Amino acid sequence: MMQTRKTLLVLGGTSDIGRATALRYAAAGWRVLLTARDAEAGRRNADDIAARAGAEVSVHALDALNTGSFLSFVDGLPVLPDTVVSVVGELGDQARAEGDLEHAARVLRANFEGPALLLGVFAERFAARRSGTLVGVSSVAGDRGRGSNYVYGSAKAGFTAFLSGLRNRLAPTGVRVITVKPGFVRTRMTSAIKLPPLLTAEPSEVGTAIYAAAEGGGGDVIYVRGPWRIVMTVISLLPERVFKRLRL
Ligand SMILES: NC(=O)c1ccc[n+]([C@@H]2O[C@H](COP(=O)([O-])OP(=O)(O)OC[C@H]3O[C@@H](n4cnc5c(N)ncnc54)[C@H](OP(=O)(O)O)[C@@H]3O)[C@@H](O)[C@H]2O)c1
Repeated sequence: MMQTRKTLLVLGGTSDIGRATALRYAAAGWRVLLTARDAEAGRRNADDIAARAGAEVSVHALDALNTGSFLSFVDGLPVLPDTVVSVVGELGDQARAEGDLEHAARVLRANFEGPALLLGVFAERFAARRSGTLVGVSSVAGDRGRGSNYVYGSAKAGFTAFLSGLRNRLAPTGVRVITVKPGFVRTRMTSAIKLPPLLTAEPSEVGTAIYAAAEGGGGDVIYVRGPWRIVMTVISLLPERVFKRLRL
């Protein structure tokens, strides 16, 4: 019997991590759907992936802040995907977010509300079909709020909790939910930050880790580079009276 080709949807198809993840899936023979706010940027990534992996890649318009469009976006896709990976997110500027409510709201919505509600729509469809994998790229920043990035971090914490609840609820249905906490990754998002080499992954490492966890039956919650699990366990265990005095 001929096996039908599986389909991956990347929410945030213009991102460096999204592109690397799509490439990993395309190399394994998957058809790829990318979302983009900027169709031209989406097309550039799609053409690159198609050229490198010989895959069928299409681009679909999506703004993760436009909640009202989510149902028609999902209904308008050429197929209900087998796997959906959300890499949508915006680091924002913590200092600006402290005084600019609109900026803070955008960071909260782009990292939590949009990705959570979108994966929630797919969760309902996957549960009815009784198959599918949902991958949410969250962050170690959500493991404990820190003074230097708690607007972004709290949104990621919300997303991490949402994914945990979804996984718990959908476990009996056969639908998998995976949480990815990549640690530092060398991408457009972190191009202005000096990153420690040992704790910094390349986008391709994240793509490989996502593919292994989602399609190879790996863990439900993954830290891409091993030391991060230890670092975040220590940070999470610090008593509040000590933690509040640290400048992190
Ligand atoms: N880089 C790191 O060190 C790191 C660490 C931990 C977690 N992460 C997470 O990994 C994910 C990917 O990040 P990246 O490093 O690959 O950065 P990136 O290249 O800046 O990717 C961010 C993606 O989110 C999309 N996006 C932002 N707001 C959106 C909106 N309102 N609607 C639709 N799409 C929107 C961007 O689209 P546009 O191209 O249209 O802006 C882009 O595709 C993010 O969720 C980030 O928080 C990154």
